[in-house]
Amino acid sequence: MCGIVGYVGPRQAVDVVVSGLKRLEYRGYDSAGVAIVTADGLDTRKKAGKLANLQTIIAGDPMSLSSTGIGHTRWATHGGPTDANAHPHVSDDGTVAVIHNGIIENFAELREELTNLGIQLNSETDTEVVAHLLQIVLPSVDGDLSEAMRRVCRRLSGAFTLVAVVAEHPDVVVAARRNSPLVVGRGEGENFLASDVSAFIEYTRNAIELGQDQVVCITPSDITITDFDGNPAATVEFEVTWDAAAAERGGYELFMLKEIAEQPKAVADTLLGRMKDNRLNLDELRISEQELRNIKKIVVIACGTAYHAGMIAKYAIEHWTRIPCEVELASEFRYRDPIVSSETLVIAISQSGETMDTIMALRHAKDQGAKVLAICNTRGATIPRDSDAVLYTNAGPEIAVASTKAFLTQVVAAYLVGLYLAQVHGTKYADEISDVLAQLADMPRRIDLVLDTTEHVRKIAHELRDAKSVLFIGRHVGYPVALEGALKLKELAYMHAEGFAAGELKHGPIALLEEGMPVIVVVPPKTGRDVLHEKIVSNIQEVRARGARTIVIAEEGDESVVPYANDIIRIPESPTLLQPLLATIPLQILACAMATAKGYDVDMPRNLAKSVTVE
Ligand code: F6R
Repeated sequence: MCGIVGYVGPRQAVDVVVSGLKRLEYRGYDSAGVAIVTADGLDTRKKAGKLANLQTIIAGDPMSLSSTGIGHTRWATHGGPTDANAHPHVSDDGTVAVIHNGIIENFAELREELTNLGIQLNSETDTEVVAHLLQIVLPSVDGDLSEAMRRVCRRLSGAFTLVAVVAEHPDVVVAARRNSPLVVGRGEGENFLASDVSAFIEYTRNAIELGQDQVVCITPSDITITDFDGNPAATVEFEVTWDAAAAERGGYELFMLKEIAEQPKAVADTLLGRMKDNRLNLDELRISEQELRNIKKIVVIACGTAYHAGMIAKYAIEHWTRIPCEVELASEFRYRDPIVSSETLVIAISQSGETMDTIMALRHAKDQGAKVLAICNTRGATIPRDSDAVLYTNAGPEIAVASTKAFLTQVVAAYLVGLYLAQVHGTKYADEISDVLAQLADMPRRIDLVLDTTEHVRKIAHELRDAKSVLFIGRHVGYPVALEGALKLKELAYMHAEGFAAGELKHGPIALLEEGMPVIVVVPPKTGRDVLHEKIVSNIQEVRARGARTIVIAEEGDESVVPYANDIIRIPESPTLLQPLLATIPLQILACAMATAKGYDVDMPRNLAKSVTVE
């Protein structure tokens, strides 16, 4: 949450910073602001609302030439989304500007200390205290901003990425990191800081991951990284493998539409190169086969859509490995006393790799000796770094707030882990594993076929746009798909939507049904577990008999649902366990189309942010 950019170099700083913010706006859009260092001191502009509001201000009153700048796009935590609470925050004497992502937990006592010193605070944010503290410390360290930052950071508790500039050092930007994301971009005669690489990918692909409790100072020619005590710090350099075009809309009206359309490729890329010599080979895993053989229990931890991917994975992992697998919301797991040991494999699933609930849950698991394996889409993020092993989903950058292609690739990656465990534990023969992999390899083609239903789904969305409430039902792996469909509709179309295990309806939720209420049903394959199919056909009849409008997602050729369906969305045949990779797609399209029909901002839904870096 919150996007951060810093720049030093020969370009016009405000342009680089604003273009970086544009790419980071998915992280928060409650306000935006920039500060540049000029010959006359700091020039700061900030405005509540989306980045466009700030751009209008700058266009009306252009900023001076400057080689050094910082910028911020905010997801509000402390204090509402107002101009005053927008970042950057400037010190009492106007010489220090600071931006921040995270929460400074001891800000109240720091605020009181500053007030007692006669300093007037101009915002309700936790961030502002840092600007004043830096101003106070700077004279005692001969104006050395890095040292001042280290001293201030040692006084802070909580999670933060802080970036600061001072009026008297025109070519210096200093940042600090604890628990919130920050990467450095190494350019030629210029350097960058950002919450993620998309902000500077246009200029350089050479990046450096910052570790925990580190301070970085960038100048046009140097990058110096230390810990909070000033000792040189070890860092990891990496090259970004995707390009600027991948982070652009590429002709699509919405990032979400682009990302839905990219799903065949994202799935294919996640499967790429996993088979070697007729064996599944996950060489990036970093946990030995022996360690995996010792695993007696699996716990998947994740949030939101990633949690639904974990729920789906449980069915496959238990089926293939016969190892008990639990799935838990990271925010619940973290505050429980879970039963995990060195024989437990915890799988943390996260697109961003920066979700605070998941980070804290995985640390909780590690403290108890569990092995942690991350399934993540963002290289170098905190979750893969803090884990014992990682399997990257190769979905490419996901910008729209609602997760789509990341979800499908999370399911695929979790399946790869399940198959790998089955191979290591010997619970599946090699040819059985190859069969599943061959089916998976054919999924991009089938996903493409599902994308052909887009117009039909849009038509249904248009008809449903005024519904008061929409219910989703499914069984087995179709149940988490139903939950995912409901989540998408809530977050994008701001409608009441709920997903249920179809068998649970009669235990209460069926009372919700009213004449005409849309019920979306995920029908399992007819050729899979027949009993599941029969049961869901009965469930469709039950809701239809009570006046529901039934919208049925069923395989091509499944005629048994026709008499009970008001609408049918057809998907290609697939094995039961792989069906979520197809059945989810119409639900993504439906939510996107309903939000569009209602005139909502699909890529940036209200109150949300892409990366949830606070608890
Ligand atoms: C919903 C959505 C969220 C995320 C959740 C976890 O469309 O995107 O529910 O899935 O916030 O985020 P990551 O995967 O980054 O940990």
